[in-house]
Formats: sequence, structure tokens, C-alpha cells
Amino acid sequence: MAFGNLGRSLTALEIFNLVRGDLDQVEREIGLESVASADAVTYIGQYLQSGGGKRLRPILVLLCGKLLRDSTPGLVRMAAVVEMIHTATLVHDDVIDMAKTRRGRPSINVVWGNHTSVLAGDWLYMQAFQVALRERNFAILDRLITLTQMMVEGELLQLDRIGKIGVTEADYMELVDRKTASLFSACARLGAISVGADEAAESSLGDYAWNLGIAFQLIDDVLDFTSREKILGKPVGNDLREGKVTLPLIYALQSAEPEERRLVETVLQDGNYDQVPFAKILQILNRYGGIEKAQERAGAFTEKARVIIGGFPDSPYQRALLAVTDLVTDRDH
Ligand code: IPE
Ligand code: IPE
Ligand code: MG
Ligand code: MG
Repeated sequence: MAFGNLGRSLTALEIFNLVRGDLDQVEREIGLESVASADAVTYIGQYLQSGGGKRLRPILVLLCGKLLRDSTPGLVRMAAVVEMIHTATLVHDDVIDMAKTRRGRPSINVVWGNHTSVLAGDWLYMQAFQVALRERNFAILDRLITLTQMMVEGELLQLDRIGKIGVTEADYMELVDRKTASLFSACARLGAISVGADEAAESSLGDYAWNLGIAFQLIDDVLDFTSREKILGKPVGNDLREGKVTLPLIYALQSAEPEERRLVETVLQDGNYDQVPFAKILQILNRYGGIEKAQERAGAFTEKARVIIGGFPDSPYQRALLAVTDLVTDRDH
């Protein structure tokens, strides 16, 4: 019994328990900092905060910081900052993608319209920077500005590729690096900086989280085909409908027959599954193992993440960061 926990990886709940107190403070901080003189912004802030979300990015900030030192008020603020940036990117992303649902509810653009949503997203971005500025730490601002520009460039690149069937694996990976992995990496780096870590620790943790972030997005794109809307909180089959050719499909298209390729092209052009049902696309994916190949690829990235974090001394936080890699690949939403 006493040895029951040895060698066992942590569960989601155990990971959550390690940062529960800090996360409560993060939620308070986000609530306090999302109040604007314009009512619409405040309502949107509350709507987003109460809509759920996994809080994976603040958890990463907290675990990486606490891996190195005890939690500080600055660490909690930085965890709030990354969640606010994440939220701002989702608001803008849903406007760009004309999304209907987010976190199981009508998305902000549906409730408030595009104009208000764009401005609320801008406000949230700036508020995140405002909070970060209070640390009076140029290294933090440097990472945040680099990150935000990377993410915006990612969205621009994605726009450029909408509706194109010829997206290569390299094109796709570049997008994932920019739109998702860069934020994960920044979370780990900001956690390290907030507790005064040296450059080497910051860089290792950044690499760990970058690999985790790539795997996270790959699995997100797999779930877009394999999950159900009720579990995912956003519609399935959505990426292709939005004109995005993601990794499972890129792999399948490498071996697909010309006729199958035409079916995919039809959905891309129509922006719906009226002529070619979603089940038909799933059939093509299954025929060429697109899902499995993408899952394997994600597994290679989490493996790299595990090796990097395995280089840190054993502690509850180190084990939690190890276990997060399984959560990312085994998740259903
Ligand atoms: C959504 O991120 C955007 C992607 C990078 C796929 P999450 O899936 O972490 O969103 P929430 O915060 O849990 O809603
Ligand atoms: C991820 O892009 C959003 C950002 C990281 C900005 P997606 O468009 O693929 O994400 P979902 O599917 O809307 O969550
Ligand atoms: Mg989107
Ligand atoms: Mg997606």
C-alpha cells in the first residue's frame, strides 16, 4: 500500500490538485482584470471565463514555475496573462473562422457579432499586456510580444492556405508551430522567468512545452474527425468545412485515388458536407490510416517532451509535467 503510488503516472485530478490553490487565484485575477468601462467587454470576459476551458496554459505556467521554485504572486499573474492571451486569440479565431460554437456554447461572434468581438479581443490582448507590464520585466514583455506576432503570422498564413488541397506536411507543421506550440513554449518560459530561473532551465522547459504544444494541436486535429460535438464543445468535421486540410487528411491524400481527392476537394469548395457526407471523408481517412499516422506523429512529439522533462530532478511537479504528456494524447476534448 505504502508503495502504491511508486512508478505510477499521475492522473488529471492529481495534477490539478498540485496547482488548485494557484489556479483559484488565477481565476480571481482574470475576473478582476477583465472589467472594462465598456460593458460589452466585461460581459464577453465573463461569458468566456464561465464557459469552461481546460486552463491547460496557466497550468503549464504554474507547473513549470513550481518545478523550479515556490510559487510567487508574479507566477500566478503570468498564468492569468497567458489564459487572457489564449482567450483573445480564440475570440479573433472564431471571427476569422466564422465559428458557431466554442466551449459548448454559441461563440462570441455569434452572440455579439464580429465588430464587437474583434474589439473585445483587442482589449483582452492589451489587458494581458497591461498585467504583464506590472512585473517591470523586459524579458517577459519580449517573450510575449514575440509570441503574439508569431501567432498572428500563423493565422495570416492559415488564411492564405484556406481551401487549398495541396498543403504539405511541412506547411502544416509550420502553422502548428506558430498558432499553438509557440504559446505552449511561451507558457513554460514565462513560468521559468517568473521564478527567476536561469536561461538553461527556461530554454529546456520551453522546448518541452513546444513539443507538447505540437502534439496538442495534432490531437486537436485528430479529434476534429473522431470526436463528438457534445464532448468536444465545438462541431466535428469543422476543419475541412472551414477549408483547413490538417495532418490526418494530408497523410491520407498522399495515397488517395484521384476520385477520393476530388471528393475532398468538393467539401473544401462547398464549405459543407451536402454533396459529400462527412462519413465518406472518414472512410477515406480510415482506408489510408490517416488518423493513426497523425496519432503516431503526435506520440513522437510527446516522447521528445518526456525525454526533456525526464532530465529534471524527480519531484511531484516533474511527474506532473511528465503525466501532462499522456493527458494531451489521451484526451477526448
Ligand atoms: C483551443 O485550445 C485552440 C487550440 C489550440 C486547438 P484548447 O483546446 O486548450 O481550448 P480551451 O481553452 O480548453 O477551450
Ligand atoms: C487554433 O486554431 C486557434 C489558435 C491557436 C489561434 P483552430 O482554428 O484550429 O482552433 P479551433 O479548432 O477553432 O479551436
Ligand atoms: Mg478556429
Ligand atoms: Mg481546430
